[in-house]
Amino acid sequence: MDIKRHDQIRAGIIGLDTKIPLSDGTKRPYINLDNAATTPPLRAVVQAVQSFLPWYSSVHRGFGYKSQLSTAVYAEARRIILDFFGAPAEKYTALFVKNASEGLNKLAQRLPVAEAEVLTTWMEHHSNDLPWRLRKQARFIQLTNDGCLDLADLERKLRKARHRIKLVTVCGASNVTGIINPIQTIAELARYYGAQLVVDAAQLAPHYPVQIQSGPAPIDFLAFSGHKMYAPFGSGVLLGPLAAFRDGPPDQVGGGTVIAVSREEVVFAPPPEREEVGTPNLLGALALAASLRWLSRNDFPQLVAYEAELTKYAYHQLKTVPGLTLYGPPPERYPRVGVISFNLEGIPHGLVAAYLSFEAGIGVRHGCFCARPYVHHLLGLSAAEIISAENLAKAGKKCLLPGMVRISFGFYNTKAEVDQLVDALKSLRLEEEKIKNRYRIDPATGEYLPRIGNFKAALRRHTKTFFNL
Ligand SMILES: Cc1ncc(COP(=O)(O)O)c(C=O)c1O
Repeated sequence: MDIKRHDQIRAGIIGLDTKIPLSDGTKRPYINLDNAATTPPLRAVVQAVQSFLPWYSSVHRGFGYKSQLSTAVYAEARRIILDFFGAPAEKYTALFVKNASEGLNKLAQRLPVAEAEVLTTWMEHHSNDLPWRLRKQARFIQLTNDGCLDLADLERKLRKARHRIKLVTVCGASNVTGIINPIQTIAELARYYGAQLVVDAAQLAPHYPVQIQSGPAPIDFLAFSGHKMYAPFGSGVLLGPLAAFRDGPPDQVGGGTVIAVSREEVVFAPPPEREEVGTPNLLGALALAASLRWLSRNDFPQLVAYEAELTKYAYHQLKTVPGLTLYGPPPERYPRVGVISFNLEGIPHGLVAAYLSFEAGIGVRHGCFCARPYVHHLLGLSAAEIISAENLAKAGKKCLLPGMVRISFGFYNTKAEVDQLVDALKSLRLEEEKIKNRYRIDPATGEYLPRIGNFKAALRRHTKTFFNL
């Protein structure tokens, strides 16, 4: 992508020039390398919400003009979302939920699969692990040493269970290594052995075009979050076949879910209404649809190609930092979205993140990223080390927990930002002892904070400014 076009794209994101305070009292424009957690908003998304606000009213609940318009806008948002993923409205529905976690929990609650009929993997975010573990007694697909899915184990487990596995659920892309799973192959295997496929697309959908019917076997269910795709207004989507939601009671019941209620009888509405209890998040739905429209209109495949190039660049630049370990296979060998996790030998992951934040103005994440079994695997921890780490966590001792540092890109990030990160890491390496002495660890939270200044008090003061209306 040429620089002019990239500058235009960057101008479409809110907040890229925001200056943040550093521990030496200066200010610097924030470099956000934590897009896997949440992306900043697209200007077009905020404009869509602002232009609609004067018309905002109740959905499905009134007959005034604004109410009818709001209902139509909500329906149009659903149509745009189905369309973006190539899902025909006669067969599929897009249920609005608050985020991917809620969508996956809903599915685990809602699907009539019995215990031990679900196959998930050891590389999942907790939100695609715990709902199945707790509600359906999931089995887990093993991983290769470098953290990829072991497809032979997937097939073995499907074959061995002789059509007893009814559901396979995998992340489209990992939030730890960015690895993109071979969804089409998994869909075909699942279908061959009589199982449906759920894709946790929280990390895939914002960074890779997904069509649910692109090959001989469709993806059955897809869950993702708006706040990870430039639409931070509290909505996410669970997309799936209408037929899956026609029978059985919804997971939550109340207003909007019924077509008939008498003293004796309750008749639920057809999906999607029966699955969306109460007044829906209309602004969230509008924002998410506006974001997808923006991506479609701004050559999403080109943005995807740009992110892939940036990821390769970052991976190789990071390798030049002495003592840096990268996790997962290189992006040339295995497709990855722009998520890279690493450790710097001899420096705690929390300290690396603190130094980047307080002295370089770079936002990253550190820890286990809500994917503890996967991080344990990538770190090569023994069973005894895992038990001891989890015992520390159970006891609330956060100081010594294992983990990694994670950077993650959006299409607006630049090679210059990667260079700043790499320079900062090299400086940290060079002045390791001096820098370590500049921080103290808070035993309660496990956070590293600068010894000078009172960062928490300054943060409290800044927080208050948003409420002095
Ligand atoms: C792969 C994956 N799945 C699910 C989630 C949960 O997303 P949310 O917190 O928006 O529900 C995340 C969040 O980071 C994720 O990375």
